[in-house]
Amino acid sequence: MAVKTLSDLLAEGVSGRGILVRSDFNVPLNDDGQITDPGRIIASLPTLKALSDAGAKLVVTAHLGRPKGEPDPKYSLAPVARDLGERLGRHVQLAGDVVGSDALARAEGLTDGDILLLENIRFDPRETSKDDAERESLAKALVELVGDDGAFVSDGFGVVHRKQASVFDVAKLLPHYAGTLVATEVRVLEQLTESTQRPYAVVLGGSKVSDKLAVIENLATKADSLIIGGGMCFTFLAAQGLSVGSSLLEEGMVDTCRKLLDTYADVLHLPVDIVVAEKFAADSPPETVSCDAIPDDKMGLDIGPESVKRFAALLSNAKTVFWNGPMGVFEFPAFSAGTKGVAEAIIAATGKGGFSVVGGGDSAAAVRQLGLPEDGFSHISTGGGASLEYLEGKTLPGISVLES
Ligand code: 3PG
Repeated sequence: MAVKTLSDLLAEGVSGRGILVRSDFNVPLNDDGQITDPGRIIASLPTLKALSDAGAKLVVTAHLGRPKGEPDPKYSLAPVARDLGERLGRHVQLAGDVVGSDALARAEGLTDGDILLLENIRFDPRETSKDDAERESLAKALVELVGDDGAFVSDGFGVVHRKQASVFDVAKLLPHYAGTLVATEVRVLEQLTESTQRPYAVVLGGSKVSDKLAVIENLATKADSLIIGGGMCFTFLAAQGLSVGSSLLEEGMVDTCRKLLDTYADVLHLPVDIVVAEKFAADSPPETVSCDAIPDDKMGLDIGPESVKRFAALLSNAKTVFWNGPMGVFEFPAFSAGTKGVAEAIIAATGKGGFSVVGGGDSAAAVRQLGLPEDGFSHISTGGGASLEYLEGKTLPGISVLES
């Protein structure tokens, strides 16, 4: 990657300088507003710590969820500011606004090593605007917070596929650098795509086929086997002419799935049995059925044990594995065995010298929630959409802008 990195910036000197960092703090919260998986916050620490230790005046910007371009307490970064402060062992101020008078006053008051987190950048509608001038005006307001000798560090890997003001436009206005997280993630994805060791197995899950279509088409030509589980497998099963009961189904995608199955028959692998239940609920009694015997009044919530066995056999000799998306509703213990079984098979392949990458917030959360060892995988990416778009061969605006 022909971009300047955090080490270059530290070598140039940051003491007393205003440094704007874009992080991805889009973490899951429970109904009480507590962070249920701090993975993205933990991944942001090395860059923030290095800059703060070197005496930078840090202004950090990030988003949480998809608020509608105006302040919404539900999406406040307050829980993140608290968690971050605890993990860094230093106070993290939270501005009461994004680039308003409070953010400006606080930014002016920063002393060396201080950290100011701006409120959710998506409270400002200009962040996600399709209008270049609007995004640029927000980017200029961000630049004002760090002053003329400021710099921009892009470290929110999970959001680099978005052409947004704090990801893309601001890099055009300030000297820019890839943070430790972005540099590491890109290095891993380069290794995955450029020097792929075979056999190469891809495991895709999650709920929507439509979200994964481009990546399925792209990876089906590259991988030796592409395993499909999770909610999206039902559209494929329907494309095989099977009845899927009340399982998740994207009717409009059935034809496309049929074509994919015809074209990549040797590569695509579907479950052969399914754990079904009456309701989408943790306490709905589970029942394992063959894929061709899903009852009309039941929905599939996990792949079955025979599928896990077959998928594990495919994964057992893989030298490269990319996994995105859970195999079932792993949050409910009765429907977590599929995700756990496949994850364990990937860990076993890694143990035998395979290179494995877990991409996507849900799969990463599954690893942690199911008590699996994070170091059992070669790399756990903080980017779901970002890593998929990279693998689809798309240009990521937040990366390409750093190259200029
Ligand atoms: C993610 O969760 O994948 C990133 O934070 C990007 O969020 P977005 O899909 O709302 O842009």
